[in-house]
Amino acid sequence: MSQKPAKSDALVFFGATGDLAYKKIFPALQSLARRGRLDVPVVGVAKSGWTREQLVERAKASVTEYGGLDPAAFDKLVSNLHYVDGDYADPATFAQLKKELGASKNPAHYLAIPPSMFPTVAEQLSRADCAGNSRVIVEKPFGRDLASARSLNQTLSKYFPESSIFRIDHYLGKEAVQNILYFRFANAFLEPILNRNYVENVQITMAESFGVKGRGKFYDETGVIRDVIQNHLLQIVSYLAMEAPSSTYTEAIRDEQAKVLRTVRPMSDDNMVRGQFKGYRDEPGVAPDSYMATYAALRLYVDSWRWDGVPFIVRAGKSLAKTCTEVMVELNNPPQVVFKEAAPKMGNYIRFRLSPNVTIALGARAKKHGEGMTGNPVELSFLEEPEQGKDGRMDAYERLLGDAMMGDATLFARQDVVEAAWAIVDPVIHGPSPMYEYEPGTWGPKEADHLVEAVGGWNTPT
Ligand code: BG6
Repeated sequence: MSQKPAKSDALVFFGATGDLAYKKIFPALQSLARRGRLDVPVVGVAKSGWTREQLVERAKASVTEYGGLDPAAFDKLVSNLHYVDGDYADPATFAQLKKELGASKNPAHYLAIPPSMFPTVAEQLSRADCAGNSRVIVEKPFGRDLASARSLNQTLSKYFPESSIFRIDHYLGKEAVQNILYFRFANAFLEPILNRNYVENVQITMAESFGVKGRGKFYDETGVIRDVIQNHLLQIVSYLAMEAPSSTYTEAIRDEQAKVLRTVRPMSDDNMVRGQFKGYRDEPGVAPDSYMATYAALRLYVDSWRWDGVPFIVRAGKSLAKTCTEVMVELNNPPQVVFKEAAPKMGNYIRFRLSPNVTIALGARAKKHGEGMTGNPVELSFLEEPEQGKDGRMDAYERLLGDAMMGDATLFARQDVVEAAWAIVDPVIHGPSPMYEYEPGTWGPKEADHLVEAVGGWNTPT
């Protein structure tokens, strides 16, 4: 029988005074403390010239703004909070960290810092004897393309084995995303129809009504494909398209994800449309002649017996008409028209709304009351939930940090999964390809419509 992994006996987070810590990490730590899951030292590290008191103030402002201050839980967090201020290239910073870690034998080190700093921090942790039995948690982006993802991994794996590397893709921490997997495989009725015989197409839309929100510099080096498609949306594709994982061993889910992503045909320009919203080039940090896409629509094909010929159309963008993420699995129409009404689109479908609210629903048609044999679209809803993180529900970061500290890697991106996802988009992220402007507040460039012509158009979330 495999041994249960040991719980991390401390949490170190680099980038403690940064944006991610402010928006996500402190609120997650307070929630972990509230649920009694954070009874270990927490050491923030940054180079800001701050004192511990300043960090505590920052933590308080963070939880107050994001989710609300819970005085008892916050006090618990603060009673465990340490702070090390120093340069990541300076061994003295790590000597101090070692001291703050005290008797800790297997800390988890969370690198909430730019990937360019990973090699320095990993090497210093190792030199200061802090890497040994520890875990390392890293944030996306895991590289800029397939080659750099491999090289980043080589760097990390010099100091940490794969089983100790936890790559956060916060979409995997979302209940609604986990529910795609759960709903598919905890029920038997979907299995017979989720394949090329019954599914006409799958559409995944991740729309955001806001722009780059002051992250112009980051975004202009990243663009929509690297920012959300290579990771968040391809993780969703893998959950929708993969074969049933076995329950007999712990890596089964990630094995199936890797397997299915390896069968997705690498992208080509004729199956992709890129767009940029008007005004993007005036954003601070964005080059005035930027050619970075803020919108992309991709038509993917999974080359397997199950999915042969079924298009998976994935689109994502900033400054679109609304903020929401939704998956529509559209089923084939009945083979013949029995009732003489205009052939209705969207007869049968399975809908997974992932945000802002969470829904799982089945679409059908039912007869309208009266003499004629005509119908209305109706939905059978299995699940209607508010947004995650609300009403005391566990937020994605809380879930993932808790899991990493427990050593459960199921909801983290394994290197082969990351590489398989890069291999899909790699052919279209280097070279020049056409770019179409779109008006903010719309559904993106009209030029993308041809990708869905053969399947009757977009299934735009309402
Ligand atoms: C991040 C991207 O990974 O995900 C952002 O960098 C994006 O650009 C965000 O806005 C979306 O996350 P969520 O949880 O708000 O859907």
